[in-house]
Amino acid sequence: MKKPAPGTTGGGGYELVRVAGGAWSVRARAEGETFHPGIGPAAEAEAVYLRPLRLAERMRAHAGEFVVWDVGLGAAANVLTLFRATRALASPLRVVSFDRTLEALDFARRHGAELGYLADYEPAVDALLGTREVRFYNGRQPVDWSVIVADFPTWLAGAPTTEAPDPHAILYDAFSPARNPDMWTLPLFQRLRARLDPSRPCALATYSRATLVRVTLLVAGFFVGVGEATGEKEETTLAATDPRLIPRPLDRRWLARARRSTSAEPLAGPRYVQARLSAATLERLERHPQFRGG
Ligand SMILES: C[S@@+](CC[C@H](N)C(=O)[O-])C[C@H]1O[C@@H](n2cnc3c(N)ncnc32)[C@H](O)[C@@H]1O
Repeated sequence: MKKPAPGTTGGGGYELVRVAGGAWSVRARAEGETFHPGIGPAAEAEAVYLRPLRLAERMRAHAGEFVVWDVGLGAAANVLTLFRATRALASPLRVVSFDRTLEALDFARRHGAELGYLADYEPAVDALLGTREVRFYNGRQPVDWSVIVADFPTWLAGAPTTEAPDPHAILYDAFSPARNPDMWTLPLFQRLRARLDPSRPCALATYSRATLVRVTLLVAGFFVGVGEATGEKEETTLAATDPRLIPRPLDRRWLARARRSTSAEPLAGPRYVQARLSAATLERLERHPQFRGG
């Protein structure tokens, strides 16, 4: 068997790598990408997803079940950090995770001691790995956590099912557009936007600040703003069906920069192509309510 590189440990399709600050994170060998490369899994989950989405605050003010889609379950750092951050709340939480494989979660479960963020949640992770759905009390909070093991774009293109109620928030954590283009296409985000219940404001956070990703979200009909800075990136991205969920919307200065970018045109299909904005896309951006009158 091949010896792990210095600073890494593991076998199979995943390995552990140390990131800045000394935390361990999971790295997928096939894509050559580390799941939380900046400040480590738990800190990055908070900075990229929990805080920009104001999840604890929204859940506290919410009556009834709060629904979160966790797209790209991977090693479950985002979702377990969410559980840890909201366990003092009594409002019921429903999380539907999506991934094409449970291998990263299984790997993380076997390396819980190094990763740290699995602590206290091992029984829930074991149940999810076993039966793909688990109900438990997270402190005061009743949780229903399920996973849909499928190709997400294909699942989304199918008829809506009751296995995933419409979300109030989406943690969107695929690999990068260059490595995982099928998860960043315009048709996918158009389907996602069309699927969202207009009476249920929904916000989506992602680590990417790529112009191409932001243009895609805007053209798909989301309002789009900047998220928080993490250790590695200056800022991330927050999108929503309701502009009131976006405290720092992209403005016309951003649009002017997008016009100059050499990688701004949305991906029409699952192939990574870098291109300047087309005239048609630019016109759609200009017509977007976010930029009208600004
Ligand atoms: C960066 S990792 C997610 C890390 C994870 N959120 C965490 O907190 O550990 C990206 C995940 O997206 C999943 N993924 C990539 N393409 C997918 C697809 N087409 N359908 C479903 N899942 C996909 C990968 O299997 C991988 O687990």
